[in-house]
Amino acid sequence: MSTANDRELPAGHEIDTQRLMFAFFWWGGIWLLVGTLYGLIAAVKLYWPDAFVHPLLSFGRIRPIHTSIVLFGWSSFALVGLALFVVSRTSKVNLALPQAARLGMWLWNAALVTAIVTLSLGISRGPQEYRELIWPIALLYGVGLAAIGVSMIATVARRTTSEIYVSNWYILGAVCWMATLFTIAYLPFYQDGLGNIVIQGYYMHTAVGLWFTPLVLGTLYYALPRMLGKPIYSYALGVLGFWTNMLFYTLIGAHHFIFSPVPWWLQTTAILFSVGMMVPVWAGTGNFFLTARGSWPAVRRSYPLIFVLVGVWGYALASTQGTIEAFRSANIYWHFTNFTVGHSHLAMYGFVAFAIWGAMYGLVPRITGRGPSPAAISLHFWLAFLGGSLYITAISIAGVLQGASWVAGESFIASVDAAAPMWLWRTVGGFMMAASHVVFFINLWHMQPLTDSPAVMGERVPA
Ligand code: HEM
Ligand code: HEM
Repeated sequence: MSTANDRELPAGHEIDTQRLMFAFFWWGGIWLLVGTLYGLIAAVKLYWPDAFVHPLLSFGRIRPIHTSIVLFGWSSFALVGLALFVVSRTSKVNLALPQAARLGMWLWNAALVTAIVTLSLGISRGPQEYRELIWPIALLYGVGLAAIGVSMIATVARRTTSEIYVSNWYILGAVCWMATLFTIAYLPFYQDGLGNIVIQGYYMHTAVGLWFTPLVLGTLYYALPRMLGKPIYSYALGVLGFWTNMLFYTLIGAHHFIFSPVPWWLQTTAILFSVGMMVPVWAGTGNFFLTARGSWPAVRRSYPLIFVLVGVWGYALASTQGTIEAFRSANIYWHFTNFTVGHSHLAMYGFVAFAIWGAMYGLVPRITGRGPSPAAISLHFWLAFLGGSLYITAISIAGVLQGASWVAGESFIASVDAAAPMWLWRTVGGFMMAASHVVFFINLWHMQPLTDSPAVMGERVPA
């Protein structure tokens, strides 16, 4: 049975990997600040509609900029940086074809810069969430993804271990699924009518479920045992989670279009598969918490571990909430309301971002020999945790008030009046999140490898 922490590092390991990983982190950090700024402007405008009146900053333009930047910029860069490191470490070889991964990084940056320019000018594919980018930009991003994927696959193919560690199942799976999904989303055959709607649902949820989720899980299957200094509770549960994730996630997309003209049987299938998703979600959550069992004193002393475990709770809560949201009886209240915005931030922030931060703080100082002070990490944690909780709670309450008002048949403006105070609280939470992101960026600076650090010189360091 293989575990992440029974592996020794080869001498001279990872000089390129470290630099490349950090380049992805830097860009991730920059995109986090840019994306947050757009999120803040959007939040301010939703409460004070007369703020920032300029065509370049109209709500319809800045919303897709916010989502594109935080999804394809921050989350993807940070996760790929971690994943490059994990595939190399667990395969006990240097990263293969680092030039390909570096090329991918620059193509992604080019795609994001052109995305900001085109979306600001109102050039988009219309209301197709998360695939608003026109095809040349999507192509840049897709080629970048392929280049990064080739580097990861080649690394695992050159491994000096007999088996493929479970982290790499998730990471390579994510790359293959995202490449498939991205291609299907942009193929010309499915751009009209109901076919377009079905593909839109498939794309939206497969992106979160078969890209971000497996990248986070793959990272945590390496990071958590490392940080706790003991093996993962069950390798088998990790494998079960992998296969059931793939089985159930691919067919849940239509839960975004409950009560729409999409065939009723397809909606019902999506609801049933959303229930099936509880298998991988609780297999993963249980596995991580059972790994941490018996180590609570260590967890209490370590903000990196607290970040990770908040992330694991975020995964369980957001996913269970999503399953409930998929039922027709719940969807009739919550669909089209701000409740979905609460769900997406609970998932993308409470799960994905917290897990990324925990893994970075837990792993990187061990490799570079440098790190921020515990006080700086705790400042980041509390600002992000309290700000994120305020955002998610306020906007979820707004969703409930909106749903109740619509079902009661009140006028639309009555639902706006009911939800408005919550939009103010969401903005306050957003400012705290933004402050935490500035602290994170400074902390990133303190973690970066110095050219003469022992790790960069190729010494063995425990990680
Ligand atoms: C068991 C797992 C999950 C289920 C069953 C689920 C279910 C749902 C449902 C039903 C919606 C649509 C709500 C509506 O429009 O009425 C939704 C939206 C969303 N979910 Fe999940 N969810 C799950 C996990 C996750 C995870 C892990 C993430 C992120 C990593 C995520 C991210 C999102 C996002 C971003 C949206 C908003 C999509 C949009 O813009 O319309 N979900 N989810
Ligand atoms: C890592 C950080 C963040 C991530 C990954 C993220 C992700 C997302 C996603 C996926 C959506 C689409 C939601 C949906 O359609 O259901 C969204 C919308 C939005 N986000 Fe964020 N977000 C982040 C940070 C922030 C921050 C700090 C703010 C500041 C207040 C913010 C404000 C907004 C607003 C106002 C919307 C539009 C909501 C609407 O259309 O009603 N986000 N974000």
